[in-house]
Amino acid sequence: MNQAEKFIQQKLAQRLQDDNFRVLKTASGLIDFCSNDYLGFARSEKLKALVQAEIKKYPAYLNGSGGSRLLSGNTAFTEELEQQIATIHQAEAGLIFNSGYDANLGLFSCLPQKGDTIITDELIHACIIDGARLSYANRFSFKHNDLDDLEKKLKNVKGICYVAVESVYSMDGDTAPLKEMSQLTAKYNANLIVDEAHATGVFGKGLVQQLQLEKQIFARTVTFGKALGSHGAIVLGSKNLRNYLINFARSFIYTTAPSFHQLLTTQMAYQLLENSAEEQNQLLLLIGLFKKEVQKKQANSLIASNSAIQSVLAPGNAHAKQIAEYLQKNGFDVRAILSPTVPAGMERLRICIHAYNSTEEITKLAALINGNEQ
Ligand SMILES: Cc1ncc(COP(=O)(O)O)c(C=O)c1O
Repeated sequence: MNQAEKFIQQKLAQRLQDDNFRVLKTASGLIDFCSNDYLGFARSEKLKALVQAEIKKYPAYLNGSGGSRLLSGNTAFTEELEQQIATIHQAEAGLIFNSGYDANLGLFSCLPQKGDTIITDELIHACIIDGARLSYANRFSFKHNDLDDLEKKLKNVKGICYVAVESVYSMDGDTAPLKEMSQLTAKYNANLIVDEAHATGVFGKGLVQQLQLEKQIFARTVTFGKALGSHGAIVLGSKNLRNYLINFARSFIYTTAPSFHQLLTTQMAYQLLENSAEEQNQLLLLIGLFKKEVQKKQANSLIASNSAIQSVLAPGNAHAKQIAEYLQKNGFDVRAILSPTVPAGMERLRICIHAYNSTEEITKLAALINGNEQ
């Protein structure tokens, strides 16, 4: 066998042995407790109708953008949308990327320079880790949400410092103490960057805005593929930062711009968000119900979270998979999150609550989880 094929085979065999072999699955038809479609926008007939009505105003729209933003892929619509979204989020400016992954990769790889420092929460998303790795800056992590440990790291900073956190953590669902972090980073003249991927739509337009910290945060990443039900992302910050990213962010420069349809869907999703107080309230009620039910028996396994992401620890890849399969057999689409995505021993069921889940679904799922005590 060719050496490369042999290498591939060995790596895959190791995955099988570790019980963490990844496979793609198509939509299951089970009750959704795994998508990030928190408000139901991705499946919303209302959103579809808004897009279909609005697109008629643009009879000459292109199916594809035809090129990168710096060549043929830029339009007045894209730039206006960026400004519109920036205004909605009370930011000076914004730059749209093809995904949240691209946004963070671009931002963290091009902004911090050799001699600068990036400090990230230990649970930060892979796209920020990858971006930071591509930079030549010094990199440190601090203990999850631990202000004392963050301060320790801030004391040893060299060059310009960037601190990266998520307002809602993607695998734990808990929130960062943004107010205290903004004070701490200000004390050390560091720049706080907040990824709002799982907060936007769940906590209003995001936690930064809910806490009125817009002016204290250096930059924010807002993604469109989760509660907004579309696809893509925007980096919010100063006009200067926007110009810098246009000039230096390689994941922005060297890629085809998003299609008009995608951008229009995002614009309409923001319109829908303005009128989704009912869905947002329902979501918070269901989150509360799920927590109350699961805490009856699994208080120690449930990771503390007020967001739509509720994780129940089920240590061991085989163990977590076994419980997920049991829940799937009972009609619930719940996925296990395995190591190495989370640290060994912290494997879990990651349950996403949605405004469209019913109270019966929540109580039945909680009862099944409670029947599976570790
Ligand atoms: C915290 C966080 N940031 C960024 C991303 C990436 O966003 P996208 O799915 O739009 O690439 C994700 C998605 O998994 C995420 O959880």
